[in-house]
Amino acid sequence: MGMLGKFERYPLTFGTTAIEHLPRLSAAIGGKIDVYAKRDDCNSGLAFGGNKLRKLEYIVPDILASGADTLVSIGGVQSNHTRMVAATAAKLGLKCVVVQEKWVPHYDAVYDRVGNILLTRLMGADSRLVEDEFDIGIRESWENAMQSVRDAGGKPYGIPAGASVHKYGGLGYVGFAEEVRSQEVELGFKFDYIVVCVVTGSTFGGMVVGFAADGRADRVIGIDASGTPDQTRAQVREIVDNTAELVELGRKIEDSEIVINPDYAYPAYGVPSEATNDAIRLAARTEAMMTDPVYEGKSMQGMIDLAKKGFFPEGSKVLYAHLGGAPALNGYSYYYKDG
Ligand SMILES: Cc1ncc(COP(=O)(O)O)c(C=O)c1O
Repeated sequence: MGMLGKFERYPLTFGTTAIEHLPRLSAAIGGKIDVYAKRDDCNSGLAFGGNKLRKLEYIVPDILASGADTLVSIGGVQSNHTRMVAATAAKLGLKCVVVQEKWVPHYDAVYDRVGNILLTRLMGADSRLVEDEFDIGIRESWENAMQSVRDAGGKPYGIPAGASVHKYGGLGYVGFAEEVRSQEVELGFKFDYIVVCVVTGSTFGGMVVGFAADGRADRVIGIDASGTPDQTRAQVREIVDNTAELVELGRKIEDSEIVINPDYAYPAYGVPSEATNDAIRLAARTEAMMTDPVYEGKSMQGMIDLAKKGFFPEGSKVLYAHLGGAPALNGYSYYYKDG
């Protein structure tokens, strides 16, 4: 049955995601480690997929049981999460209101017309742009959106940013760890490290709980892309404790098992550094693997830099968790006009 046997899951994804060997990227970053990617970016046919669908699979049964008619959520202008909530609403035949805040100091001319927000609107969600700045917590604008649905006679179901502080938000990525364990049996080896981007916390937090079950939570290296690592760490701590209790892990996870590296989030959430853009180019040119300037480009940058610095012992097998997000590239076209 595994750790998730007692929880209901509503399928939104194709199932087990592929693990792909990346030999040209491995060679390009020094050839001392072997890099693989788990392709959660290709996990579904719903609007290009991504990590949020794994989380939402464990939240949908609660949505359906609630009798709600409208999903309400929140994110930045180029939020992948709000795209995935809009997709889930379309698939379930529910209405959707998403608040899109000005989280990112980035001024591409069509930033609020292309990529994620374009897809969100196409799927029929009511996308509301507001001026508030970056914050991963519960927001007033979100409460206002919930109230506006009630005022119109609807029944809202609120999903917090990144689906992270939802009580079931961490379960999907416990499932990721279980999936990796069974894929390792087929592959005939175990990964020494897992590298994953962390912002609102339930992707990484779920993995920490899932990998704690075989004593390797501290091999999950969270690369912060929030630029507010103390708040992210505090939110991860809460998610880890809540999720460990839900899945009956049977012990408390130590602070030392929660490894978050804050070194690559600069200059700000949603803004790539030169090194981020170089990492995006390298993954694209060696493996045709597309990463974005907000999330996966930063974890790619982190993995490359840590590999070059010798953080991973020679011969390590490193699993890069690719969580999606490529649609946002369209909102950053000026950076890549020359490739
Ligand atoms: C593509 C992508 N990668 C990484 C993350 C970070 O995941 P989390 O918010 O669960 O920490 C997100 C969402 O915030 C995302 O959309």
